[in-house]
Amino acid sequence: MDLKDVIYKRRSHRDYYQNIPEDETINEIKDFILNAKPLYPDIETYSVIIGNEDVSGPFRWKAPQYIAIFSEKKPGYLTNVGFIYQQVDLFLQSIGLGSCWLGMGKFKPKTEDIKDITKNGEQFVILIGFGKVKGELYRDESQFKRKNLNDISDSIDRKLEVARLAPSAINSQPWYFIHEDGYYSVYCKELNFIRRRILGNLNKIDIGIALAHLYIANPETFEFFEVDSPIPIKDYYYIGSFKI
Ligand SMILES: Cc1cc2nc3c(=O)[nH]c(=O)nc-3n(C[C@H](O)[C@H](O)[C@H](O)COP(=O)(O)O)c2cc1C
Repeated sequence: MDLKDVIYKRRSHRDYYQNIPEDETINEIKDFILNAKPLYPDIETYSVIIGNEDVSGPFRWKAPQYIAIFSEKKPGYLTNVGFIYQQVDLFLQSIGLGSCWLGMGKFKPKTEDIKDITKNGEQFVILIGFGKVKGELYRDESQFKRKNLNDISDSIDRKLEVARLAPSAINSQPWYFIHEDGYYSVYCKELNFIRRRILGNLNKIDIGIALAHLYIANPETFEFFEVDSPIPIKDYYYIGSFKI
């Protein structure tokens, strides 16, 4: 299935068969990751595919495999991770696998050859669980629980529908879009103390995820940049600007 079509059908999966996908499928996923588009091409990222023995965390479900994502810590690195790996999330669901971002998960390597992976200075960022799912892989657009277009933008714009449908940590949907002269700017919701303790920095990943949907829906025209003096918006901070 086309990645753009997956945007309107995908969901997070938490009920998996524990058998591991075939090597051919794993290689296809690795190839896709290597060719995914970055938002910040100067930030080094990489990932490894690991099993249950190498993750820990307070979650009640387990996937047979996980993508453990690492990145250099430079400005924009979290948004960059969201942007690259949401393309991967869509790809996984396009080839018949379920997936779920896992902000609560930790990379706890027990396997010797995986332990070495952390020695290059790049930091562990987040996990995505994936595998064959027991329930329905897709859902209908009417089943998405999301804010309305007029709650996430300064004017109703159907081109932003793909961003509206993006997944986010605890479905927080922290994005706000404004229309500028020939381009858009995207902002992230400031968190109060309690929300910050729950979400940490995950919302910056969420914005990258929403931008990935905008890129997948507009691959020929999508262009990301930062302006020097963004318009201030109360309770939100600026992430970047884009053309679609
Ligand atoms: C950055 C990020 C972190 C997430 N962390 C978790 C998690 O730790 N555990 C979990 O069960 N779901 C997690 N999710 C999945 C969200 O809860 C889910 O995307 C959101 O509720 C919307 O549901 P949907 O993806 O089915 O549309 C995460 C999603 C994102 C984008």
